[in-house]
Amino acid sequence: MARIHLLSPRLANQIAAGEVVERPSSVVKELLENSLDAGATHIEIDIENGGARAIRIRDNGQGIDKGDLALALSRHATSKIDSIDDLEAVSSLGFRGEALASIASVARVTLTANTDSQNEGWKVECEGQDMQTRLEPAPHPTGCTVEVRDLFFNTPARRKFMRTEKTEFKHLEEVVKRLALSRFDVAFVLRHNQRVIHNLRAATTIQERERRAMMVCGSAFMENAVHLEMERAGLTLAGWVGLPAFSRSQADLQYFFVNGRVVKDKLVTHAVRQAYRDVLYHGRHPAYILFLEVDPALVDVNVHPTKHEVRFRDGRTVHDFLFSTLHRALAEVRPQDQLEQQANVREIEAGSEPASEIVSQIHQQAPMNLQSAAQPVSNYSSYAPSTPAAGQVQEQLSSYQQLHRSAEMLGDQVGWPSESGGNEPQQIPPLGFAVAQLHGIYILAENEQGLIVVDMHAAHERTTYEQLKQTFDLQGVVAQPLLVPVSVAVSEREASCAEEYPQMFAQLGFVVERAGPESLLVRQVPSLLRNADSEQLVRDVLSDMLAQGSSDRIRAHINEILSSMACHGSVRANRKLTLPEMNGLLRQMEATERSGQCNHGRPTWTQMSMTELDKLFLRGR
Ligand SMILES: Nc1ncnc2c1ncn2[C@@H]1O[C@H](COP(=O)(O)OP(=O)(O)OP(=O)(O)O)[C@@H](O)[C@H]1O
Ligand SMILES: [Mg+2]
Repeated sequence: MARIHLLSPRLANQIAAGEVVERPSSVVKELLENSLDAGATHIEIDIENGGARAIRIRDNGQGIDKGDLALALSRHATSKIDSIDDLEAVSSLGFRGEALASIASVARVTLTANTDSQNEGWKVECEGQDMQTRLEPAPHPTGCTVEVRDLFFNTPARRKFMRTEKTEFKHLEEVVKRLALSRFDVAFVLRHNQRVIHNLRAATTIQERERRAMMVCGSAFMENAVHLEMERAGLTLAGWVGLPAFSRSQADLQYFFVNGRVVKDKLVTHAVRQAYRDVLYHGRHPAYILFLEVDPALVDVNVHPTKHEVRFRDGRTVHDFLFSTLHRALAEVRPQDQLEQQANVREIEAGSEPASEIVSQIHQQAPMNLQSAAQPVSNYSSYAPSTPAAGQVQEQLSSYQQLHRSAEMLGDQVGWPSESGGNEPQQIPPLGFAVAQLHGIYILAENEQGLIVVDMHAAHERTTYEQLKQTFDLQGVVAQPLLVPVSVAVSEREASCAEEYPQMFAQLGFVVERAGPESLLVRQVPSLLRNADSEQLVRDVLSDMLAQGSSDRIRAHINEILSSMACHGSVRANRKLTLPEMNGLLRQMEATERSGQCNHGRPTWTQMSMTELDKLFLRGR
């Protein structure tokens, strides 16, 4: 058997590098984090050949003392923590003292730095089997430059895993973008083969921040995002969430930061997905940029080698906070907000005039026939080709009302909205006034910005659904005892969980009792779910509980049923509506939560501005 011996420092570091340095982008991440930790406000990143040939990062942070330069390159050397107590409440991005040593073991590294207290800069290079360092003077302003050349020159296996220059650069650019989003107050310049790719100035105002966010995520995201800021019990959540209609086929526009650290966390992803559940088209992914601030002592960052995961001391509170904040923010979006945000983005793109000016300019340039649109809607009724009796729609609605046990629960609220006419406010509402119906499917309306097109079935379905949910919440659950209780075989852990949290079932009308070590008895279900597979539902809820500490499955199920009731009860295609009816729907959409998308996540309305229409017709102004 071979004798035991100590590994050379380089080999030990190379082993550690296996986890930390996967590709050029991981080097950039570590170096940028160091610059941010050093308090830099200006960082320049120069890349050659996708990072394979050279990565050079120069910052104006506090720099490194001559005496510490060599130490910075050795393993387990850090200025950021001293004790385990420090680690438990760490607020810097780095803390392991491992990054530079790992990088230096698989590349040629030069570190040049100067501090406020030194007269000149110093440079250290690392070489040889034992990673000896060579120190010499080198001019440098206060701050630090790290140059990493020939990545993986001595680890051919790793080198083989590197992709093309373009692919590696894309990964690396993504890292820069994420970190640029995490620190709006820092300026970043990214160059590839001497060409400037991004030049991001420090952003202080909300407009400047939105501009940076737009550069990173595109203007389409910003046009379809809402800004939010919420604080509760020591937790702060801020940022932008994409409207459900702006969903993605991939989870590629999801930026989540915990105390400035880029994090991909299961708990976070779950809470966000749950918040979008009611509004997102099946299989689509939401887009968001979110910043969570939490007391560093309440989050453990030392759980993953690349620090991409965190562990919250009180995961359930964080989950609830994220879910409820996002859920609310998405519910509260009204057409007005969406239109304002779009104007806001155009304004950022164009220069910096306030939104109101832009709108009034468009107005001036495009004298639309708003006067007539603002006339009492009753005047329009005569234009409707055939006026269906509101009763006809009502009749159809009543068919689904019967589906429901308590008809009075629905009352007038789901009735097709109709306007009184005559005493219309003079202001033009966000979705404007209806001018026509197209092929029995779309409502065309004129508003201040131009043309609004509404998918009337989708829109009515959503408004009805929201009303049903509201009524359900107001009335409380109607429960129904089962004549023959259903017995459910579960694991012992699941049975104990059901016993421990009876409230979880009870609050939505279930009565679930423990019947044995591995069996439960369902005695009562909410009447809406009387035809559902309660056995499966109880099992799924328990598995959610054990995996995530919470479950919204019962509620989701109830919502599904309300949603399909709304779908059947909503106005169908090919139904002629009168203008007052159409206007009634528009007003209801403006007042209804989540009215921007139907129950399946498809958009319910869209705006074509005069500018867009002019472009279509090549009409200069
Ligand atoms: N750009 C920089 N400016 C100033 N000091 C730096 C810079 N980069 C590194 N350092 C110093 O070098 C030390 C070692 O850096 P290194 O990245 O290896 O470890 P760390 O940041 O402390 O922890 P981690 O391994 O988690 O990143 C840091 O603790 C810091 O004192
Ligand atoms: Mg570091």
